[in-house]
Amino acid sequence: MNVLKTKEDMQAWSLAKKREGKTISFVPTMGYLHAGHVSLLELGRPLSDELVLSIFVNPTQFGPNEDLDAYPVNIENDLKLAEQAGVTAVFLPNKEEMYGENYQTRVALDHLPHHLCGKSRPVHFGGVATVVTKLFNIVMPDVAVFGKKDYQQLRVIRQLTRDLDFNIEIIGGDIVREPDGLAMSSRNAYMTPEQRKSALCLSRSIGLARKAVEAGETSAAALIREMEAHIQSFDHTDIDYIEFCDPVTLDPVETIEDQVVVALAVQVGKSRLIDNALIDPPQ
Ligand code: PAF
Repeated sequence: MNVLKTKEDMQAWSLAKKREGKTISFVPTMGYLHAGHVSLLELGRPLSDELVLSIFVNPTQFGPNEDLDAYPVNIENDLKLAEQAGVTAVFLPNKEEMYGENYQTRVALDHLPHHLCGKSRPVHFGGVATVVTKLFNIVMPDVAVFGKKDYQQLRVIRQLTRDLDFNIEIIGGDIVREPDGLAMSSRNAYMTPEQRKSALCLSRSIGLARKAVEAGETSAAALIREMEAHIQSFDHTDIDYIEFCDPVTLDPVETIEDQVVVALAVQVGKSRLIDNALIDPPQ
């Protein structure tokens, strides 16, 4: 497994593979890998000849009061998991390498970033779109795999891939959950055992909403009220948002008549947790 720390080395590696006629799958991450990331690597592995993982905690997607400095890091373990998952090259740049002196350019989308997480994290998706655009140009993959846990991010990436004419197939990997239902996240590492128990409120409240929709409830406001009451019954929780929205545009939906995505963000102690699910009303 090659570990490449400069953009030049990464591009040269990818170009050499392409000249040999090889295809490349790519899984971008911020490191601190867990079973969710491993599942994305496993999804990408059989789709191409080569499998590239990037590890870069991207500063431009964190706002001033967010957890950039506290973001967990364990490169040694990441490299071990990468090797086991069949990664053939790891791109491991530092901040200076990615955004050198006099860096000026940002990639911005008009609509998708103004919904859901974008309302309380106004710089986040611009930072994600910018770094992913750069990573696509550096790694030059044929296929890129992103987790569905950040549903909005996946929508943003699909949109920018289309709008900027990247010839890359975007694959969404299913959410990987702990046995009790908590969606896996590097941020789960910040929680105390007490907070970890409270974190179950996200997946459980989604379960309640799904049941209610299946039983005929069509009012998003009523569903949100039920989810809020459930989450507030747990200690250490502070709801950022709960929304039912159109799966493509992410515009809010008031009456559930077709498939919707329910998405929520809840602060649990120091961890800001997100979760989502697609829900279909009964036919
Ligand atoms: O999902 C993530 O880990 C990050 O947002 C990404 C896509 C690697 C960009 O920094």
